[in-house]
Parts: sequence; structure tokens; C-alpha cells
Amino acid sequence: MVMQLPEKGRPWAELEPEMQAMRGHDLDWKHGRHGAFVWYANDELEHVLRESFGMFLVENGLGVKAFPSIGRMENEVLAIVRSLLGGDEETAGIFTSGGTESIFQGITAMREWARKERPDVRQPEIVAPHSAHPALNKAAHLLGMEVRRVPVGADYRADPAAIAAAIGPETVGLYASAPSYSLGMVDPIPELGAIAAERGLWLHVDACVGGILAPFVREVGYEVPPFDFSVPGVASISADLHKSGYAAKPASTVTFRTRAHREFARYTFDDWPSGIYSSLTFTGTRPGGAIAAAWAALNFLGREGYREIAAASMRAKARIIAGLSVIDGLRVHGAPPLYAFAYGVEGVDMGAVAVQMIGRGWYSGRTTDPDGIHVMATPVHEPSADEYVAAVAACIDAVRRGAGGEVKAASYT
Ligand SMILES: Cc1ncc(COP(=O)(O)O)c(C=O)c1O
Repeated sequence: MVMQLPEKGRPWAELEPEMQAMRGHDLDWKHGRHGAFVWYANDELEHVLRESFGMFLVENGLGVKAFPSIGRMENEVLAIVRSLLGGDEETAGIFTSGGTESIFQGITAMREWARKERPDVRQPEIVAPHSAHPALNKAAHLLGMEVRRVPVGADYRADPAAIAAAIGPETVGLYASAPSYSLGMVDPIPELGAIAAERGLWLHVDACVGGILAPFVREVGYEVPPFDFSVPGVASISADLHKSGYAAKPASTVTFRTRAHREFARYTFDDWPSGIYSSLTFTGTRPGGAIAAAWAALNFLGREGYREIAAASMRAKARIIAGLSVIDGLRVHGAPPLYAFAYGVEGVDMGAVAVQMIGRGWYSGRTTDPDGIHVMATPVHEPSADEYVAAVAACIDAVRRGAGGEVKAASYT
């Protein structure tokens, strides 16, 4: 029967157990059964996020004059992100609902900038490596822009020479990832920044997955290639708080090299009965709780907390990779520097392995080019690493022995 709005409401005492029961079939994110979708550190942080989100559940981030508390927290979050991304006093950001909105606002600014700076361009185009997240194409589609995707190099990173060669008269911007969703590769941003500077293009860096944690991954001793505003030529950077910032969803940022760059993302309208509507986000109403929870996460964790998360995530990644490396023919794709990676096995259909893994309760995202299984390691993946490796080994074995299961086309959503 199709669900109808009940005539009479039901008490929470009845709804709560029903909702808890619905969760029974969901991903077990507390125990590292996931390769993506959830960034979970620990119960203490979860408590802080719930409390802070709940405290500002009703407040609307659209009305920062009505809620100066939200305005203050938003500005402080953006100032922290700006400094994590190597910005200065001139650097200015926008708090958004997620990576997709951050990318959308970054690309909007790129298009509006091009309208001013390159009035000759009729069909603005962005050149990007094949590894770019689909949010780029979604934004371009909605903004009437084209995306030219260029094959990546042998190291699975953007190939600067191929990107340069693909730039045409209608190209207004470049796009790169730090890191990419599928294989966790950080593109050569300094080379791409130099191309952007030389050719007068806007370079957007999609650091949705790693932008917030990358400085701490460096601080605990790992090398992460340069990707932020310290690199000349970078105009805007998207970095999600609800991914490696370990904040509550929905929370992301898009930061611009200067306030003038950010102004290109603004939409202003006044031909209606309520005066000037001027906004830097795609959304109108914004959850005050998400802004509050992001502020609380940053202040609860501090640099020390993020270093601990970075170290635990990198240990989880290393432990999984070390365990997997004994499997015959298995190799990690490329050399991903942050906590995201993917692996495949020579001669084994990883789609079939993913089906087996999902059957055993391990949600496993796939990569197609090259064929693989993808992991975003977080602190909860450390204690489950050995179990994960054992499950992968058993599933590869089963597939090698001809275990079936319907292998569908890889899908991300
Ligand atoms: C590299 C990258 N960019 C953008 C996005 C989109 O972010 P969101 O799902 O928060 O809109 C994702 C999501 O995983 C991503 O991995």
C-alpha cells in the first residue's frame, strides 16, 4: 500500500523503535563496513555533533542578521578553513551544503568571471582529467558550460601536457582533484596552476575529500603534494567539512583566492515585492545546525584531534594495504598519498568480488578504470582492518573458484 499521511499522529515512543528497526539493514558504519559515504571518528565526537546540531536545529542560516550566532560560527569556520588551505586575509569562502554545491558555486564564479574577462567566449568550456567527480559535469550542465575530459597519465593523475593540449579558444577554466574520489590521486596542481596562470584560466581544485585533513596528514609525517592557495594559479578550492572535516552533514566550503573571486559566485535580485535578495549559496534556507556542528567539530577536535584522526586513518590504510599485499596479483592503483585508495587483482573481476563483499556485509564501492574496489580509510577502519582483509581474500578466492552473483554496472549512488 502506498504510504499516506496518517490522520492522527503517532507518539515518538512508537515511532522510535520503528525507525531503529528500519536502520537494521543499513550500512554498519561504526565498525568500518563501508568504503565511502561516512567519516566517523568516535562516540565522543558524535555526541558533540548531535548536541551542537540539536542546539541550533531550528535556526536558519539564511537569516544571519536574525541569528548572529550562526553568522559568527560561519565566519569562524570559514576563517579556519582559509588558513588550513594556505589562504591569507584576502581569501574568502562560502559555507555550503556539500561538495556538489561547493563545486557548483566554484564553477558559477568561474563562468561569471569569464563573462566579464572573456566576453568573446560563446560556449564556455572547462578542461578536466577523466578522474574528475561527476559534480563537475552536473554543475556545467546546469550552467550551460561544456566539460572536456582528458585521459589521465600512466600514474592515474591529470596529465598536464594532455590538459594543455586540450585547451581551446572557448576554454575558460581547468579542474583538478586533491584527491580524486575513485583512486585517491592528487593531481599535479603546481603544473596545472602554471598552465592556468600562463593561459589566463580559472583553476578550481576539488579537495572535497581531503582538503581539511591534508594539512594534518602532513603534520603526522606523510608527504602530500601541494594543492592549495600556496600554489600560484589556483583560483578556488572546494573542501568538505562533512568528509575529512568530520563534521555533520550537510557541511562543505568553497574558498576563493580573493574576495573579488568570491563575488563572482554571488546572485543578486530585487525585482519582487521584498527588496534585495543577495546570496553566495545555491540554497536559500540553510540548516543552522550544520554550521553549528561544523564549528563545534573544529573546536572540539583542535589541531591535535585532527592529527590523531589523520594518523589513525593513515594507519588503517597502511594496515589494509599491507594485509592485502599478500594476495596473489593484488595491487593498489597508483600511489595515492591521502587516506583514499583503490586496488585490483590481475585477472579477477573486481565487480564480482564487490558483490561477494556486499553479500558479507562489507559495502564496497567500485572503480572501473582500472577495475577495482575503493576504500576511504577512517579511524574506524583501523580495528576492522584485519577482518576486512580476510573478507577480501575469501571473496577473491570464491570468485577465482567461480562464485557467481549478479554483477551490475558499477554505480556510485
Ligand atoms: C572528489 C569529490 N568531489 C565532490 C564530491 C561531491 O560531494 P557531495 O557528495 O558532498 O556533494 C565528492 C563526493 O564523494 C567527491 O569525492
